[in-house]
Amino acid sequence: MKIASLVGARPQFIKLAPLIKASQRQKHPNSKIALEHKIIHTGQHYDYKMDKVFFDELGIPEPDYTLEVGSGSHGWQTGEMMKKAEEALVKEKPDLVIVYGDTNSTLAGALASSKLGIPIAHVESGLRSYNRNMSEEVNRILADRSSDFLFCPTENACENLGKEGFSNVANNGKLIDLSPSESFSADKSTPLVINVGDIMYDAALLGLKIAETGSNILERLKLEPKKYYLATVHRAENSDDKKKLKSILDAFTEISIEKPIIFPVHPRTKKNLEAFHLAPSVFNQIQIIEPVSYFDMLILEKYATKILTDSGGMQKEAYFFKVPCVTLRDETEWVETLEKGNNVLTGADKNKIIQAGFQSSTLEHDSFSSTFYGDGQAADRILGVTSYRI
Ligand code: UD1
Ligand code: UDP
Repeated sequence: MKIASLVGARPQFIKLAPLIKASQRQKHPNSKIALEHKIIHTGQHYDYKMDKVFFDELGIPEPDYTLEVGSGSHGWQTGEMMKKAEEALVKEKPDLVIVYGDTNSTLAGALASSKLGIPIAHVESGLRSYNRNMSEEVNRILADRSSDFLFCPTENACENLGKEGFSNVANNGKLIDLSPSESFSADKSTPLVINVGDIMYDAALLGLKIAETGSNILERLKLEPKKYYLATVHRAENSDDKKKLKSILDAFTEISIEKPIIFPVHPRTKKNLEAFHLAPSVFNQIQIIEPVSYFDMLILEKYATKILTDSGGMQKEAYFFKVPCVTLRDETEWVETLEKGNNVLTGADKNKIIQAGFQSSTLEHDSFSSTFYGDGQAADRILGVTSYRI
C-alpha cells in the first residue's frame, strides 16, 4: 500500500513523525507488502526553525516532493498548493492521502486528492471552534467533508461529526481497539469516523523521553524549573490586530514582574511586533527568543509554572504535562482541557490574562488522569484501519 502524507506547517511535521515511525515498523497486515510512505511538503513553512529543524530532530526522512509554495494570501497559497500537489499525486498515484489538522496545506491536500478520486484520511478530524471567522475552522470542515477516513483525537470530535450527519461512527465514538477488526473493510462508500486518540500525544510521549536527556534549553536560557512562564502567540486574530497584540503584551509585562516570561516568537508575530512598533526591549522581563525545536519546547513546557498561549497544540501539551494553561482565545476546540480548570480562556483581554496568570493553581492531580486523548498509539491505529479498508 502506498500512502502519501501531505504536510506544510510546523504542527504538521510533529503530527507526521509518529506515523512515519509506525509505518517504518508496520507491514501491510493483509498482503505482507511493506508500506510505502511518501511525503509531500507544500512549503507553507520554510524558515529553518519552522521547518527543517523538525525533520532533523524527529528523524523524518527528506520529503519526496517539496512544492515550495511559501507565504501569500490564503486563496493564492491554497491554489498554488493544490496545483502543485495535483502534479505530485498524478505522478505518485498513492492509494491514500493523509492530511493533518486545519491549515491551508490541509485544505489544499484534501481538495487536490478528492479531485483525483484518491481516498483521503484526515488526522485530527472533527474538531470545531464554531467560529467561522477562523480560516482554520473552514479548512477543517471542508477537509472533513471530503475525507473517507475521519480520524478523531477525542470522543468529543466524533460527537461533533455525528451532529453534522456523519452516521458511520466506529465504536460509538470511543477509542477503538488497537488491533483493527475486519468490520473496517465493510461499506467502503460511507466515510468512516474513528476515535484513534490524539497523534500529538504519541508525539509528546516519544519526544519527551528523548528531550529529557537531549535538550539543554533550561541551562542555555539560565532557567530554573517552575520559575518562569512560557508564552506563544501566533493566531491571526491576535497577532494581526495591533490592539489585541498590545493588550496581550501589556498583560505579559505585568505578569513578568513576578517571574520571567519566555516567549519564542512565531515569524508572523515577529513581523507584526516590528510593524506595530511594539518594541520587545520595553518588556525586559519578557525574554523574546526565536522559535525553538520540538524537544526544547517540550522541556520548556514541562518545567514552566504556567503556559500562556493561543496555540492549539500547546494547550494539549500543557494538559499532558499537568501544567496550567491560559489560552489567549475566546473559544477552544480542545474542550476537554477546560474541564476542572486545567485551562482557562481569556481572549486578548488584558485584565483577564493578568488575573489568570497570577491565579494560584488549584489543580487537582486526578483531574489529569483521564484518557481524553487516547493512549499514545494513534499512529498504529490509523495504519491498522487504513490497511484493512483500502
Ligand atoms: C499557519 C496556520 C495555522 C497554524 C500555524 C502553525 C493557516 C491558515 N494557518 O499559520 O492554523 O496554527 O500555521 O504555526 O494555514 N512566515 C515566515 N516564515 C515561515 C512561515 C511563515 O516568515 O517559515 C511568516 C510569513 O510572513 C507569513 C506569516 O508568517 O506570511 C504567516 O504564515 P502562514 O503559514 O500563512 O500562517 P501561520 O500564521 O504560520
Ligand atoms: N512548537 C515548537 N516550537 C515553538 C513553538 C511551538 O516546537 O517555538 C510546537 C509545540 O510544542 C506544538 C506545535 O509546535 O507541538 C504547535 O504548533 P503551533 O503553535 O505553531 O500551531 P497550532 O498547534 O496552534 O496549530
